Amino acid sequence: MTPSENKVVIFLGPPGAGKGTQAERLAHEEGLTKISTGDILRDHVSRGTELGQQVGPLLDAGALVPDEVLIALIRNHLAGMKAVRVIFDGFPRTRAQAEALDRLLEDLGAPVTAVPLLEVPDRLLIERIVERGRQAARRGEAVRSDDTEEVARKRQEVYREQTQPLIDYYGTRGSLRPVDGVGTLDQVYGRLVEALG
Ligand code: AP5
Repeated sequence: MTPSENKVVIFLGPPGAGKGTQAERLAHEEGLTKISTGDILRDHVSRGTELGQQVGPLLDAGALVPDEVLIALIRNHLAGMKAVRVIFDGFPRTRAQAEALDRLLEDLGAPVTAVPLLEVPDRLLIERIVERGRQAARRGEAVRSDDTEEVARKRQEVYREQTQPLIDYYGTRGSLRPVDGVGTLDQVYGRLVEALG
């Protein structure tokens, strides 16, 4: 692979907007690697690793994990990649994370390709998250500890304070691609592909 084949897509959007769902399909169809920081952290929690024990209470509370932990994690994931063909789902979430990612990508010669922003009204977001918890419980599967109405509202608040400013960060760099995230999964995916050109 040559560096010209690098592709870096960053999904932005509030909790429950559909980032993970749409990123999974895009990764599959475009041959990209999805890096979901939420999934990675939950995996550590379920395996009871040292990192998992450190971050578990933060995930339970809907609070962010410290920047330096996430930045080290992403640095490890990117290390040694010859072609950088990735989708970030859930990272960056703060300005410090965004700046660190820019530096890591610059070192790799892989600039950000596009930043789709999934837009969904707050009311629907909470419904989706609570419904996911309900469905998992009904199927006898593990329920995410943060899929309750109370924690979902906390996650929304954290998003507004710490992550929403990244809309301007990527907006001024010309990479932001707003996508209406309301509708069927196929409708949203169609809009996403169109927005990515
Ligand atoms: P993370 O796992 O990233 O959670 P999140 O961003 O809060 O997002 P969700 O997974 O709830 O939503 P999503 O937008 O991916 O939507 P999804 O496709 O799942 O983070 C969890 C925690 O980890 C954080 O709170 C923090 O503690 C920590 N963390 C992670 N990254 C971090 C970072 N960078 N820095 C610091 N801390 C970090 O869809 C949601 C539901 O809606 C699903 O059931 C889905 O089936 C459904 N749905 C999706 N699309 C539609 C649609 N169009 N119509 C109807 N239903 C839909």
